[in-house]
Amino acid sequence: MITLTTQSTHSYPISTQALESEWVSTFLKEKSYKRVFLIIDENVKQFHGDYIQNAISAWGLNLIGLYVVASGEASKSVTEWTKITDALLEADVKRNDAVFVFGGGVTGDLGGFATSTALRGVALVQFPTTILAMVDSAIGGKTGINHPTGKNRIGAFYQPDAVICDAHFLSTLPEDEWYCGIGEMLKYACISTPELFQKIQQLLAANSKWEAQKWEPIIQKSAEIKAQIVAEDEKETGIRAFLNFGHTFAHALEHELGYGKISHGDAVFWGCLAASELSRLVGSPIGTELEAFIPFYAPRFTFNPNTEHLIAAMKTDKKNTSDAITFVLLKTYGEAYLRKLSDKILVEKAWNYALSKTGKTA
Ligand code: GLY
Repeated sequence: MITLTTQSTHSYPISTQALESEWVSTFLKEKSYKRVFLIIDENVKQFHGDYIQNAISAWGLNLIGLYVVASGEASKSVTEWTKITDALLEADVKRNDAVFVFGGGVTGDLGGFATSTALRGVALVQFPTTILAMVDSAIGGKTGINHPTGKNRIGAFYQPDAVICDAHFLSTLPEDEWYCGIGEMLKYACISTPELFQKIQQLLAANSKWEAQKWEPIIQKSAEIKAQIVAEDEKETGIRAFLNFGHTFAHALEHELGYGKISHGDAVFWGCLAASELSRLVGSPIGTELEAFIPFYAPRFTFNPNTEHLIAAMKTDKKNTSDAITFVLLKTYGEAYLRKLSDKILVEKAWNYALSKTGKTA
């Protein structure tokens, strides 16, 4: 069990215990929520609805409502936020009730945001059901929705009372979602804990590689890295930005290919590869550990993006001024720093390096 101690509000546990465990039951009893409202991803409801319903009954909680979120980024919209808010208020949610959110990044961000705004904030427990959500999006209180002008342009920092990562949900996780989450785990290896490279590689090389139990220590370690960074810099005025390693490249790739064409985690993998190369190009002796994962991600890359367009997309990122782009770079694997660069040739070389490894570009 990890405890995330935030600067602005409360500390909260991040646990890998199952819903039916004694720990979860005791934790929820101690919170003494009066009633509970569920926000749940449609696939999670389909595959695990009974499992969740049984747990709620066992916890003795009175269910006051349920909102099912359609899978996919399109749900992170003002329309869905309004509909959830209507559902919460029509269920007469009170501030001593709680909202339990079951799903991946989309449901977690949307559900968390709606919970933060209803009655100026109702208690929230995140139950992430994908690797990506367990190691990243459910931790640290970033909630939000998209706006036509860009992703996550509307939102709030709103910390949950707990993040409960039950590996049971991973039993139905599609392979694409595994690789998506592993992309973010590899990011943690790059910026913080290079020992993870070998551990992840071993698991990927194993025969029955998607056995959730085997991944639990790596999920736990990744969650711990994220929690430590958030504890130091909750509102992203400093080191929380390191979590964006590879993301300036990744967002450009997602934008250029069209959102949803490549998974976020796959884009993050190629982004980390490009950002590692950029770190080398500015003089840091970065190792080649990340290259070992190219054979897993290259067969999944079926695109041929234009480097000029990718560079143009990086410049429109909200954090960048017109002539310089702020990158998270590495001194070595495990040590990140921020650097503004305006040398387009270097960025182009980094892109060309990463794209040449996809095997799809000339
Ligand atoms: N996913 C990046 C952050 O939580 O800061």
